[in-house]
Amino acid sequence: MYEQISHSLLNDILNQIKPEISDQDLRHFYTRLGANFYAIHGLFERLYGDRPDFNEQALKLVETMARKYIKRSEKLKQIDIDREKDYNWFLSQKWVGMALYANGFAGDLKGMKNHLNYFQELGINMVHIMPIMECPDGRSDGGYAVSDFRAIDDRVGTLEDLQALSKEMHSRDILLALDVVLNHTSDEHEWAQKARAGDETYQDYYYTFKTRNIPDMFEESMLEVFPETAPGNFTWDEEMQRWVMTVFNDYQWDLNYSNPSVFIEMLDIILYWANQGADILRLDAVAFLWKKIGSTCQNEHEAHLILQLLKDCCQVTAPGVLFIAEAIVAPVEVTKYFGEDAVIAKECEIAYNATFMALLWDAVATKNANLLTQGIKSLPVKLERATWLNYIRCHDDIGLGFDNQDIIQAGYDPNSHRRFLIDFLTGRYENSHSHGLPFAENSKTGDARISGSLASLVGLEYALKNNDIQAQQDAIQIITLLHSMILSFGGIPLLYYGDEIGTLNDDSYLEDPNKMDDNRWVHRPFIDWDKAEKRNTPGTVEYEIFSAIKKMISVRKEIEVFSDFNNRELIDVGNPNLFVFNRYSSQRYNEQVLVVANFNNQPQKLDMQDVAGCMKERECQFIDLYTRQKPEIFNNTLVIPRFGFYWLSTI
Ligand code: GLC
Repeated sequence: MYEQISHSLLNDILNQIKPEISDQDLRHFYTRLGANFYAIHGLFERLYGDRPDFNEQALKLVETMARKYIKRSEKLKQIDIDREKDYNWFLSQKWVGMALYANGFAGDLKGMKNHLNYFQELGINMVHIMPIMECPDGRSDGGYAVSDFRAIDDRVGTLEDLQALSKEMHSRDILLALDVVLNHTSDEHEWAQKARAGDETYQDYYYTFKTRNIPDMFEESMLEVFPETAPGNFTWDEEMQRWVMTVFNDYQWDLNYSNPSVFIEMLDIILYWANQGADILRLDAVAFLWKKIGSTCQNEHEAHLILQLLKDCCQVTAPGVLFIAEAIVAPVEVTKYFGEDAVIAKECEIAYNATFMALLWDAVATKNANLLTQGIKSLPVKLERATWLNYIRCHDDIGLGFDNQDIIQAGYDPNSHRRFLIDFLTGRYENSHSHGLPFAENSKTGDARISGSLASLVGLEYALKNNDIQAQQDAIQIITLLHSMILSFGGIPLLYYGDEIGTLNDDSYLEDPNKMDDNRWVHRPFIDWDKAEKRNTPGTVEYEIFSAIKKMISVRKEIEVFSDFNNRELIDVGNPNLFVFNRYSSQRYNEQVLVVANFNNQPQKLDMQDVAGCMKERECQFIDLYTRQKPEIFNNTLVIPRFGFYWLSTI
């Protein structure tokens, strides 16, 4: 949009731009800058407009984008142009992701290069490598306490290793997703060190205070993320003689985004990783980016403005790069991370579907789909050109973040229902075979989240220890059922490494003093490649799980209606044990796939009358696309085996 004030500033900036920048071929850059500058200026002004150095900062911002554009390789620039043309590329059902720790998966980045065949064998074509930037030994929060944003931790490799890996991945059409930890740095980061040494410029990169007055005001409304291990949100730094805001661990210093220099530094870092060949950047803990006294300091409007501005700027330099919002927040808040007040996603194109994840765990524990159906009904519709990252497990704990109103609607009391879920998933509940661990248990509120690997949570560990064949079959069925959900729901399915071969909890973290207090390490495995080899031996657990997931992935890729164009219709059926939805083609309404999942341990029936309203034909025959078999239908009643699912298409 052309608007005088922003355009006259842009003219000034372009006149001042350094000759080494203006001498370059910047045609595409200027076209994009022109298209986005009105929005960039508006957002930058809303955030930093009252500062006397506003124009100077705006110049720095444009120079940062231009410098990174100049450094962007021709190959990546071509990918940007290709993706501009095929702008819905990431909504396709062809993408299937996996998240992993490079060292846990393959030792290091070099090792990963040797295991790329494994991804292709399974059908994975998007790999999220969890943080690989330099971190202090020990106090690293699994890589989320970064001490140098531009260096790779030498325990996993070098920049050259990453470049070689990313090149090889691209040649195999595998996308690379990397983390950028936006909200905080390690206390060993150079900026923190300078702040400690008394440099006020860098103290202003963080929230530091001489007295407890302001921290106490903040604490009145802030929550605690790690109440057991890192209570409170501020840490006294002896050397600096100041309090510093540390929302997560005491060694993770929160960055101060009310300072434009912080914004520009972090934009520069985002563009740096975009230039290293990352196709997707996972922006960590984005809900926390803006702090305001009197609020929870989560989901603040300004946090959204920052993300919109990051997106607008990234589109100028590296428009082919997508953002994932890691915002594990209430269902009504999550969809806002696609962008507010807009039709098209203008913040992060992708967001973790933590609501769906938690609801799936509810269905596993209750063995019905009451809350799952209710919770999905309340999930706000997302914007166009935005997509979910659907997952079952990840490197973090499971938070039971559903809405209390939905729990009530589903017929439960919120407190006792949450208590039940914690008890069930930690195996305290009678007859539960789950081997989860309570994480961040808050003795003040009774809240807890849950750690544990998928296989251990669904009872495989129990089954193997007790040689219980039925429990083993059930666990495998549930693992398959859960994957059938994330693969068909709409969005990019994100598998978690090790789940595809039934990896159990790993207690070895208890021997490491740097990990023993954080039981999330129980589900951050080191892949045992001998065990993984068993995926080729029929009859083994590894084979059963791996081959089921592999088959589902290959079938998914063939089902066009599984692409994500907000083309899902939830169906409320009479049987509460079933979760049923219809995926249809927005272009060709006559194509549809009916997804039916049975979370109960007994076979269930579905009266086909319940789904008749959304079927294109009244009288039709069905085929299950996964097994290529006709499902059992008797007297217009469909029978779904215990923990079974169907992807039904009409024939
Ligand atoms: C994100 C990460 C989590 C980490 C936190 C703080 O939520 O997923 O592992 O502890 O950020 O950096």
